[in-house]
Amino acid sequence: MRSRVFVLVVVSAAVLAAGCKKKKKAGGEPSASPTASATPEPTPSAPAPDPALVERGKYLATVVAGCVGCHTPMGPQGPDMAKMFAGGMEFPEKWGTWRSPNITQDKKTGIGDWSDEAIATVIREGKRPDGSMVIPMMPYMRYNAMSDDDVKAVVAFLRTLPAIENSVAGNKDLEMPPMPPMPKPAGTAPAADPVEQGKYIANLMLCADCHTPMTPEMMPDMKNEWAGGMEWDMWPPGMGTGKTVSANITSDKKTGIGEWSEADIVTVLTTGKKKDGTMVGPPMVIFVPLWSQLEPDDVANVAKFIKSIPPIERKNPKSTFKPGGPPPPGTPPTGDPPVGPPKG
Ligand code: HEC
Ligand code: HEC
Repeated sequence: MRSRVFVLVVVSAAVLAAGCKKKKKAGGEPSASPTASATPEPTPSAPAPDPALVERGKYLATVVAGCVGCHTPMGPQGPDMAKMFAGGMEFPEKWGTWRSPNITQDKKTGIGDWSDEAIATVIREGKRPDGSMVIPMMPYMRYNAMSDDDVKAVVAFLRTLPAIENSVAGNKDLEMPPMPPMPKPAGTAPAADPVEQGKYIANLMLCADCHTPMTPEMMPDMKNEWAGGMEWDMWPPGMGTGKTVSANITSDKKTGIGEWSEADIVTVLTTGKKKDGTMVGPPMVIFVPLWSQLEPDDVANVAKFIKSIPPIERKNPKSTFKPGGPPPPGTPPTGDPPVGPPKG
């Protein structure tokens, strides 16, 4: 889980940093194209997609839920933009090596043949049309809470992705404990209450995946949900050295962020700057270019929700991360450009 989130953020930040800058130059208007580099090619038989629905889906799949991050492969120069959403991102970890599938509209190697309902089911329940379950690196457990309208929007957006033929090899030597089946999604949108809205968005943004410590069995320690303590110490070449520890973001005044205002939380999410003026460390900082594109109401509501989390007293070790410097020993020579804090 730890490495899953890390790889996600590295890739999504790079993809989005590029994609979002382009969007801004175009006058800050949301662009009609689903990706920075591709134009939509609706399948001939499909009815014209509702632009507002597609736009919502694009926002969810890129800015909020980061689908693009995991479903785009790495090339020699970082994420391979020519294969956006075409899968093949490979990640070796303790459980074996997993690879993300192609989710473009290609009928042979992607999901062009899947029905809307089948796509919605795999997103929210992890179950493929043939009844098999996807591995939980695909965060269907979180997406289970996605509303019917939002999952429809994501599917509508995926339908606009040009078909890219990219055959992805299967997972290798992957041994995962079997996962329990998911409940049927409730499908309801969050209530109009800001805290409920914020909780909904924060869930799709995977905050708790990083801000909850692991038990020795490598399961999330739900007693300490939001109380931080997850650690990272492997960085892409040139990014930095040392370790970061996720912060206790419950409202505990001593060990958490009970003294932070909602505005302080919005600031760290959208600029990376913490209450004390220093930059938040990775992997959180890598998300910032993406989160700076959040709709203002969404990020304000996330802050309100975070402030509503009951205090848990838990002191975590301090981060020792130092940006820059030579690649740490043992870093694979991938040649990927270093991913640093966002500019501007
Ligand atoms: C953290 C990485 C990650 C994120 C984020 C992620 N996925 Fe996935 N997804 C995967 C992996 C890995 C698989 C394949 C799992 C397996 O091999 O069992 C997968 C499987 C899928 C599949 C099934 C495809 C197939 O051929 O089996 C679809 C569709 C899909 N994801 C769509 C999405 C959408 C839409 C989002 C965003 C809302 C998303 N994914 C976010 C990693 C991710
Ligand atoms: C990919 C992992 C990751 C995700 C996702 C993530 N965080 Fe963090 N967060 C961290 C780490 C690691 C730190 C500590 C970094 C450091 O030491 O500078 C941190 C620090 C923070 C801090 C600063 C607290 C302090 O006391 O300095 C806040 C606030 C915060 N995160 C809130 C959030 C919220 C809200 C979300 C979801 C919208 C979120 N984080 C998602 C990893 C993550």
